[in-house]
Amino acid sequence: MNIGLLGFGTIGTGVYELINLNKGRFAKNLDEKVVITKILDKDPNKKVAEEDKVARVVTNPDDIMDDPDIEIVIALLGGMDFEYGLIKRALQSGKHVVTANKAVISEYFEELLTIAAENNVILRYEASVGGGIPIIGSLKEELKINRVNEIKGILNGTTNFILSKMTEEGADFADTLKLAQSIGFAEADPTADIEGYDVSRKLAILSSLAYGGIIKDEDVRKRGLSDVRAVDIEMAGDYGYIIKYLGHSVLKEGNQVYTTVEPVMFKEASIMSNVNSEFNIISIVGDIIGELQFYGKGAGKDATANAVVGDALYIINCIKDNNFPKPLVFRKQLDKKGVGAF
Ligand code: HSE
Repeated sequence: MNIGLLGFGTIGTGVYELINLNKGRFAKNLDEKVVITKILDKDPNKKVAEEDKVARVVTNPDDIMDDPDIEIVIALLGGMDFEYGLIKRALQSGKHVVTANKAVISEYFEELLTIAAENNVILRYEASVGGGIPIIGSLKEELKINRVNEIKGILNGTTNFILSKMTEEGADFADTLKLAQSIGFAEADPTADIEGYDVSRKLAILSSLAYGGIIKDEDVRKRGLSDVRAVDIEMAGDYGYIIKYLGHSVLKEGNQVYTTVEPVMFKEASIMSNVNSEFNIISIVGDIIGELQFYGKGAGKDATANAVVGDALYIINCIKDNNFPKPLVFRKQLDKKGVGAF
């Protein structure tokens, strides 16, 4: 079975290493040989590892999309329209898809799941929220008999890194952002992270899954982080509080949903206050299970690649057993009038 990889950046490289180079670990879960045969990258000079005699870099997506031997496409390009087009095309041509793209999933969730179901293929997106934290699988499987009514999370590693540094060192926002960029932590264009879009997309995906109806990024009220000054953090500290950038969504009576992304003060001793650097935490409240907290690396090469490869293994096993999961349907009409007004 062959895999086509779209994107050979940090996460793409992590996935390539886990599947093609670290074969023992991947292969021991499988009865047949599964490899990445083609990798899409803009740069034609990009090379696969010398010992890899199977994979090659291609610059034209058609080389992957039109290859009948490729059964699974792993989409890790990022961005919106181009990757959306390729994911849709792959599903329509009967290929299973794994992606980490939260922008595409949050915007086109229902449409892509419908296309996957119509073509009898699987779409997986565990890495789109919380990096290595297995939150999507948990909501879809282990927690599914619960009525989940609240989700709260520190869902962005970049802003959590910035806030942690500002808190520890009293540095101001702009300097800390520059530091985060210089060490390759924050992206060159950090708008999605610091203006709340990254968190709101993740929150939209989690809320849609947890509440059974579609919530989109535009439904989430957002306040950016760039207004938080060193003096705000210092003053909060004087009163025993720490500022964190929180995504929060609540399902109330009558299927009313309230969702926000904003800087929030937590008591110093609270669990949220002690989630630092690139770590994420996601708290879920279900009517049977009560509150559950998921903590771990929310970004980065290995953690995210772990989630992507886990999704690929899931699909490979479904194909092997010829046993596909029932398509997910968002049945509930959520009342989003209250969104943003707790
Ligand atoms: N920019 C994101 C973050 C990457 O900093 O958390 C992972 O989604």
